[in-house]
Amino acid sequence: MLSRVGIRPVRGLLVVGVAAPVVRLTATRNYSEQQHRNRPFSINEKALVEQRKRDLEKAKLDSMPKWRQWAVYFQSKEFKKSMTFYYLSGFAIVLVCFYYYMRDRYYEDKQMDHIRAKYAKDPESLSEYEYLKLKALSGERLKAKEDKKFKLYQMMRKEFRRKNILEYDIMFEPTPQDLEEWYSRQARIYVNKAPVEDNVEEKNENENEKVKKLGNNENPHVMPPEDTTGFYESKAEEYDDAVKWEERGILMGRRRKWLMEQLHGDVLEVACGTGRNLKYLNLKNIDLITFLDSSEKMVAITQQKFREMFGKYPRVAFTVGKAEDLVTLAGSSSVKYDTIVEAFGLCAHEDPVAALKNMTTLLKPGGRIVLLEHGRGNYDMINNHLDFRSDKRMKTWACRWNLDIGELIDDAGLDVTFEKRVHFGTTWMMVCKRPEDPIALEEKPFFDQLFGRDYTPIKLKKKD
Ligand SMILES: C[S@@+](CC[C@H](N)C(=O)[O-])C[C@H]1O[C@@H](n2cnc3c(N)ncnc32)[C@H](O)[C@@H]1O
Repeated sequence: MLSRVGIRPVRGLLVVGVAAPVVRLTATRNYSEQQHRNRPFSINEKALVEQRKRDLEKAKLDSMPKWRQWAVYFQSKEFKKSMTFYYLSGFAIVLVCFYYYMRDRYYEDKQMDHIRAKYAKDPESLSEYEYLKLKALSGERLKAKEDKKFKLYQMMRKEFRRKNILEYDIMFEPTPQDLEEWYSRQARIYVNKAPVEDNVEEKNENENEKVKKLGNNENPHVMPPEDTTGFYESKAEEYDDAVKWEERGILMGRRRKWLMEQLHGDVLEVACGTGRNLKYLNLKNIDLITFLDSSEKMVAITQQKFREMFGKYPRVAFTVGKAEDLVTLAGSSSVKYDTIVEAFGLCAHEDPVAALKNMTTLLKPGGRIVLLEHGRGNYDMINNHLDFRSDKRMKTWACRWNLDIGELIDDAGLDVTFEKRVHFGTTWMMVCKRPEDPIALEEKPFFDQLFGRDYTPIKLKKKD
């Protein structure tokens, strides 16, 4: 092409080789000159100002704490513009949750119809789960052990529903073997987390021994029972000073006040200790009051405090004796009580179930046992701690603080008419009655009182 315009190839190459850098240099010079003179490209001044403003704002925002950054974002136009999207997404999430909730209610309802039909046909055909479900829904209070099992079975039902998410008609009908298997998989206490006595390690090696450890008797961390009378006899004088700050810290006064408000008629206080409940005692509702404790010194302190507070009040008695011997102590006298009250005594008794059974025997018909106790709580973390420190607690306070109080009540055969748990469930406030006594109107749940609803207890002869 170069030879066509009269330039030979070799020369042509020379020309291109020399010319190219010159052209490039000139172009560069032109550009830098322009830059010096003015800017190389036309610039939108307004946009530049706004960009700077935005940069400044961003820098300011970045220097703020995170929560203020969010506050600024929520007030910004950008957020307001996207509000519709947020509203709609929120609404969609609520709808989905509502759908799942209603679907669960629907299945539960179907399941209940099924159980009721089965019960009407043949009460003995119900599985343990079905029996507990029916009992719970009939308004009857489940016993402590039943309640534990029922909660586990409810989890099993949920898992079953999850697995059969599209099977509309399939019912949850576990066989006794299924229930047993599920129960043994779930119902275990954390035996490996706490220090254990020598023989427990051995027991744990056997997998079958590891399961079903829900009860006080099976829990290796519940210290063996012992007679704590000697311990409290030696601690009597320093007892008040030792516990008062802890009690103030957790507002125990309010619970003691509740306890003493329940008293009426002929009253017996078991394990009265140093009379820490006296402050809240109102003698107006009381015909006769007896204080009992196994430690003589404790009783003496209660007596002294009582006299200081109520002078020569005549209808009072002070007795030294063990709660386990209550019935023997009462002897052939036909003494019975309208209210038997106890605070923080079950943990110190050698045989708390026998003590409760004695109290039941000494109740008048319609009488109540009112308890303020401490024991296992509602959370594993707490219970693990109670288990972990149970031996230390026994040494320092002669107290088995990891007992399941509900289970003791169960074992004593008592019915619970009121239960409230505070301090993460470790403080138990309970009113109990003999099973043969009717429940009073004011003890019924609010809606039962309102609509005058009554329920017939679910009676089931269980097959073995
Ligand atoms: C932790 S103190 C509670 C004292 C008191 N009720 C209070 O709320 O402060 C436990 C009490 O139970 C008493 N006690 C222990 N074993 C007993 C038993 N088997 N029968 C009667 N009282 C017992 C002890 O003497 C002690 O006074």
